[in-house]
Amino acid sequence: MDQLITVLRAAGEPNRLRILALCAAGDLTVSEITRILGQSQPGVSRHLKLLCDAGLLERYQEGSWAFFHLPTGGENARIARFLVDQIEDDDTYVSRDRSRFADIRQERAMRSDQYFRENAARWDRVRALHVDEAEVEQTLLNMLGTTLVEALLDIGTGTGRMLQVLSSRAREAIGVDQSRDMLSVARTNLAEADYQNCTVRQADMYDLPFGEKSFDLVVLHMVLHFADRPHDVVREAARVLRPGGQFFVVDFARHEMEALRDEHAHRRLGFRASDVEDWATGAGLDSVEIRNLPGNQLTVSIWKLSRPAEIHELEPAPSRQSNL
Ligand SMILES: C[S@@+](CC[C@H](N)C(=O)[O-])C[C@H]1O[C@@H](n2cnc3c(N)ncnc32)[C@H](O)[C@@H]1O
Repeated sequence: MDQLITVLRAAGEPNRLRILALCAAGDLTVSEITRILGQSQPGVSRHLKLLCDAGLLERYQEGSWAFFHLPTGGENARIARFLVDQIEDDDTYVSRDRSRFADIRQERAMRSDQYFRENAARWDRVRALHVDEAEVEQTLLNMLGTTLVEALLDIGTGTGRMLQVLSSRAREAIGVDQSRDMLSVARTNLAEADYQNCTVRQADMYDLPFGEKSFDLVVLHMVLHFADRPHDVVREAARVLRPGGQFFVVDFARHEMEALRDEHAHRRLGFRASDVEDWATGAGLDSVEIRNLPGNQLTVSIWKLSRPAEIHELEPAPSRQSNL
């Protein structure tokens, strides 16, 4: 009873309800929420603290940025969702907040797209700044084993490097990326005879243009730290993975190199092993193995995930008529 009253008190204020409605649509930083609500930062911070104390919001700190989102599980998650669902879609404040949030997302996407446009041609060199790519690629191949697959999907393919590395393991390999400039570099890189089974196309990793269970192997290589909704990317990748299929996520382990945000448009400072594992298991996948490859300044982690094979119930055998 006491807990319920604390929760209802925390939510029972117009600005705090607006904040809950916003955070239901994606992870946000304090400064983004402040901008959307058009209110002072101390005021917004106070609301956020009350909501976190009541368990209606969760906060995680990454370098100098703190992100806020609705709890992902438990009773408080259910209550927070229930409260947000009660808000009318055409509520003046909430619909204005959502449209401002959409503008912010658009800005983020443009910033990231501009970064990739400017870096498309020299991206392969940018990648090499952080860690020995050859080691990462070899480890990925070792973790994949001798698997040969029908259909491979490389999400955020960039210059198509993963398609080059893995093309011999698949009958058909598709790379998708949002950036046309990246894709034009990828097309050049894949023009050789060795990569005739590879194609690339423009697509958004949050909304892949493929049906459920379309691929036996899905790869997300150095993409997740650019995502503002990484859990949604993992869920979308899981959606297109066939039963028995494998999904590899390669990305930085959690770090504190804040400069990568300004200099390289990173949104997230890497991930804890459990971050990706929790998103994957929440999307119905199994976590098979995680390897860490420490570099000079950054560690690269590889998550091997899989979708359990479907078990088909056998029809019960027709019962034999007893002659007795
Ligand atoms: C760091 S590059 C990695 C490229 C490649 N996977 C590799 O490791 O060489 C990240 C890529 O993700 C792409 N990307 C970012 N946001 C995306 C989105 N919403 N949908 C599809 N691709 C996206 C970028 O355009 C960029 O090519």
